Amino acid sequence: MDVMGPATAPQRPGSKSPSQTEALADPALNGETALPHETVQPAASPTGDPWLLTPGPLTTSPTVKEAMLHDLGSRDKDFIAINRRLRDRLLHIIHGQDSHVCVPLQGSGTFVVEAMLGCFVPKDGKVLILVNGAYGNRMAKICVYNGRSAVVVEWPEGQPVDPSILAERLAADPTITHVAAVHCETTAGILNPIEEIARVTADAGRRLLIDAMSIFGAIELDARRVPFDALVASSNKCLEGAPGIGFCLARQGALEETCGNAPALSLDLYDQWVCMEGNGQWRFTPPTHAILAFDQALTEYEAEGGVAGRSGRYQENLEILLSGMRDLGFDTLLPDDLQAPIIVTFHNPVDPAFVFEEFYDRLRRRGYVIYPGKLTVAESFRIGCIGRLGKTEMEGALAAIRDTLAEMGVKRCHKRRDI
Ligand SMILES: Cc1ncc(COP(=O)(O)O)c(C=O)c1O
Repeated sequence: MDVMGPATAPQRPGSKSPSQTEALADPALNGETALPHETVQPAASPTGDPWLLTPGPLTTSPTVKEAMLHDLGSRDKDFIAINRRLRDRLLHIIHGQDSHVCVPLQGSGTFVVEAMLGCFVPKDGKVLILVNGAYGNRMAKICVYNGRSAVVVEWPEGQPVDPSILAERLAADPTITHVAAVHCETTAGILNPIEEIARVTADAGRRLLIDAMSIFGAIELDARRVPFDALVASSNKCLEGAPGIGFCLARQGALEETCGNAPALSLDLYDQWVCMEGNGQWRFTPPTHAILAFDQALTEYEAEGGVAGRSGRYQENLEILLSGMRDLGFDTLLPDDLQAPIIVTFHNPVDPAFVFEEFYDRLRRRGYVIYPGKLTVAESFRIGCIGRLGKTEMEGALAAIRDTLAEMGVKRCHKRRDI
C-alpha cells in the first residue's frame, strides 16, 4: 500500500521543503555542518517531518493530521456522535460488543494503566504482576502509589512470561485476586503469551488485567475466547492516531463492580462510563482534536483491513528491518519467534567507533528517528516498525543506517560475544 499520502499535505509551520538540504540548517546542529557531502537529502514525511521509527508517538497519515483542523464543542451533538462511534469501533476490534464496554480516558497510556489498576483491583484485593520489562515494573510502582497490594513475578527482559510459573504462583497464594500482564513488553519488543496467561488465570478463578498498549489492533485478541476483566491501550500506537487518549475495554459486569474503588476522581473509569452512557459526554474537557484524529485513524485502520491488514504491513516492515540489519551484521536481542512486529531491540555493535548518541543524531539528520534501548542488562538500541510506514520507508531507513555507519567508521556491527 501507499503509506505516503497526498504530496500536497500542509507543511509543518516553519518547516522547509524536503527537497532542500535541510540537514545543513538543522538547528540541532548549532550551526555545525551536519554531513560531509551536501548532496544528502533528508527523508521526510509528507509534512516535512522525519519518519518516526519509534514505539509512539508515531508517524501519522496526512489525513489523520488534517482531521485535527477543526474545533468542536464538547457538548456538540456531532462530537457526541463521534464519541459513540469511536467507542463502538474500539469494541469491534476485540469482538467485544456483546460483553464489554469501552471507556476512553484523557491522557497518555500510563494514565489509563493507572486507572485500570486502581479501579479493578479492590482495596482489599491483591494483584500478581507479571514482569519482564519496564512496563510491568511500572505497574508495580503504580500499585505502590495507589496503595493496592501487589506481588511480582519476574523474568529476564529477553524471556516471555511463563504461564506454568503463573499457575504455580496462583496455586500457592489464594489471596491473589487479580493478575496483571503486558501483552507486548515494549522494553525488549517481546510478545507475551496472553491467551495462555488468560486461560491459566481463569482456570484458577482469578481476574485478568491487560496492558496491551503497544500492540492493540496489530494482533488478534478475541474477547469471546480470551477471558479478561479489563484491557487498556492508547490512540497513538498501532491504531495510528494522535497521542492524548487512553481507553479501557472492560467486561461490563466487572466494570460495574468497580463502583467506589477508584483512587482518584479523574481516573474513575466507572464514573466516566456512567457519564458517557448517560449523555455521551466526557466528564472533563475532552481532547477534541485528538478524538477527531482518532476517528479518522480508525477509518483508515478499517480500510486497511483491521487487524489482518495492519499486522500484515507491520510484519512486512519487521521482516525488511530484520533482514536488512542482519545483513549489516547486527544481532537482535530476541529470536524471531518471540519478536512482536512492533519494535526490535538490537545489541550495540562491538566496534568502538559506534556511539549511540552520534548514530542517533546522524540518522535524525537523514530523516529517520530511532529509539534508545531500555534494557537494564545490555547496551542496546531500538527501531520500531509501526506507524504510517511501509516498505519504502523501511528500506530508506536501512540505506540511511548503512551510510551512517560508513561515515562513522563502524565496521563490526555484531554484539560483544560475552553477552
Ligand atoms: C506496554 C506499554 N505500556 C504502557 C506504556 C505507557 O504509555 P505512555 O508512554 O503513553 O504513558 C507504554 C509506552 O510505550 C507501553 O509500551
